[in-house]
Amino acid sequence: MKSTDPELLNSLRSQAALASKNAYSPYSNFQVGAAVIDREGRVFVGCNMENASFGLTQCAERNAIAAAVGGGSKAGSLKTLVIYVPGKRALPPCGACRQVMHEMMSPDSQVIACCDGEDVKTWSPHQYLPDAFDFHDY
Ligand code: THU
Repeated sequence: MKSTDPELLNSLRSQAALASKNAYSPYSNFQVGAAVIDREGRVFVGCNMENASFGLTQCAERNAIAAAVGGGSKAGSLKTLVIYVPGKRALPPCGACRQVMHEMMSPDSQVIACCDGEDVKTWSPHQYLPDAFDFHDY
């Protein structure tokens, strides 16, 4: 797996952390941010948005991807997605987000989780969703 340029990673990490400050998460009090860059170098951010009807909660990762699509990024063109969570442990994305990432990110993309500390975790699409359900298969 090709590693993301440290300067780009730093920039995406800062943008994800900044986006997390906008989270609407009165129920969990957990503020997540995400920043995604497409192959044209455009960056889009998202944060989690909860709802009193809990099942309507939207994760930061999917909101960042939706912002990219709204901004004109095509399915399969997203190169690197950085997730920021507060605290000392970088946390992995949820299963629903992994399925959406699988479809919208590039096959050679990376998903990188970071936090306030040194902990950083990186996944390729195959690592975060082996045996993915894929529309090419039916
Ligand atoms: N959350 C995310 O934004 N991304 C994830 O990958 C996992 C969870 C949010 C959803 C909810 O608002 C809060 O974190 C607690 O689950």
